[in-house]
Amino acid sequence: MDSIKKVVLAYSGGLDTSVILKWLIEKYGCEVIAFSADVGQQEDLKEVEEKAYKTGASKVYILDLKEEFLTDYCFKALKAQALYEGKYPLGTALNRPIIAKYLVEIAQKEGADAVVHGATGKGNDQVRFEVGVMALDPDLKILAPVRDWEFKSREEELEYAQKHGIPVEVTKEKPYSIDRNIWSISIECGVLEDPWAEPPEDAFLITTSPEKAPDKPEYLTISFEKGIPVAIDGKSYDPVSLVNTLNEIGARHGVGRVDMVEDRLVGIKSREVYEAPGAMILYTAHKELEHLCLDRESFRLKEHLSIKYAELVYYGLWFSPTREALDAFMDTLNERLTGDVRVKLYKGTVTPVGRKSPYSIYDYELATYDAKDAFEHKAGEGFCKIWGLPYKVMARKK
Ligand code: ARG
Repeated sequence: MDSIKKVVLAYSGGLDTSVILKWLIEKYGCEVIAFSADVGQQEDLKEVEEKAYKTGASKVYILDLKEEFLTDYCFKALKAQALYEGKYPLGTALNRPIIAKYLVEIAQKEGADAVVHGATGKGNDQVRFEVGVMALDPDLKILAPVRDWEFKSREEELEYAQKHGIPVEVTKEKPYSIDRNIWSISIECGVLEDPWAEPPEDAFLITTSPEKAPDKPEYLTISFEKGIPVAIDGKSYDPVSLVNTLNEIGARHGVGRVDMVEDRLVGIKSREVYEAPGAMILYTAHKELEHLCLDRESFRLKEHLSIKYAELVYYGLWFSPTREALDAFMDTLNERLTGDVRVKLYKGTVTPVGRKSPYSIYDYELATYDAKDAFEHKAGEGFCKIWGLPYKVMARKK
C-alpha cells in the first residue's frame, strides 16, 4: 500500500467514524481531517466538532449543506418524481453524492492522499460514496476501514474506544440504525429485521402515529414554480424552512411513514422504515400538477423515466451523464409545472383535493356534461370505428 499521510474522513461523531478516526492515526500514522455536514440531522455539530478534535483530528470542517442538498439533489428527484421501488423518497441515497462532492473538494484543497467513509461492505452507501468520489477525482484513494478492519462486533469497537479515550455516549444502545436528514429518515435493524413484525412506535423519530393524529383534517396549499415548491398557503419560504415546515405539519398528522422490503444494489433484500412527511406532501402535490398540466404522452414517458431516475440515484450513479440527461428531460416538463395544489392531511394520509395552474390543459367546456359542452360528439363515431378497426377485422377472420 502506498503511504497515506493525510486523509479526509466523512465523520458523523458516532461510534464507527470515531473509532475509524483513531484507527487511521494508529494504522497509518497519518493526519486525519474530519468533515461533517449539516444536512438537517438535528445534531449538535459543535459537539461533533469538539469530539473530532478530542479523538485526534488535525482539522475539522463543519459545513451547512442543507440548502444545497435540497436545491441541487432533493428537488431534482422531486421534479423527476423519483421513488425507489415506488415508495422510498431516497433521502439517504441523495445525501451520499453531496458528501462525496465535499470530500473530494476538501481533499483537493488540503492535498490529502485519500478520502475515508464509514459504510459497510454489504450496503448501498459504500457504492454511492465511492462511485461519487471516482467520478469526481479518479486519482483519489478511497479507504473503507469498516470493510477491512479487525473488529468483529460493536463490543470490540467499544472496547477499542474505551482503551483510546474516545468519548462514547453512555446512553442505552439504540436498537435501530438511523440515518437522518431534512429530506427523509431511514430506520433499520433491531426488530425491523423481521419483515412480518409491525414497526413498533419507538422506531419512529418524528411522526405521530396515525391513530393518535388529530381528528380534524388540515388543509395546505402548496405553490410551485417550474416544479420547485416555493410557498405554503400563499407565504413564500426558502427551501430549508419550507421543507422543515412541511415536516413539522406532516409529522403531526402521521404523514410520510413508509414500511418496505427493498432490493439493495448488492443483491440483499432489506426491511426499511422511512419517515418523510415533507417529501411525501411535496411528491403528492407535485404529481397533481403533472396530472393537470402535462400532455398524456409526456406524462406516460415520464412515468417510465421516474423509475429509471430513482434507480440511478439508489445505485450511486448520481454523477453520470444518464442522470444529467434525465434532468434535462424532467426540466423541460417542469417548465409547465407552476401552480397551486391543495392537499388534505388526515391521520397518516395526504390527499390532493384541488389544483390550479396557468398551464393547466384541463378544459371545462370539453369536459363538462352541462349545457356548456363544446365537445364535438359526432366525431366520436368515426373515432370509435377507426380505433376498433383491427379488432373488427380479427373478429371477421375468426
Ligand atoms: N436503505 C436505504 C438506502 O440505501 C437507507 C440506508 C440507511 N443507512 C442507515 N445507516 N440506516 O438508501
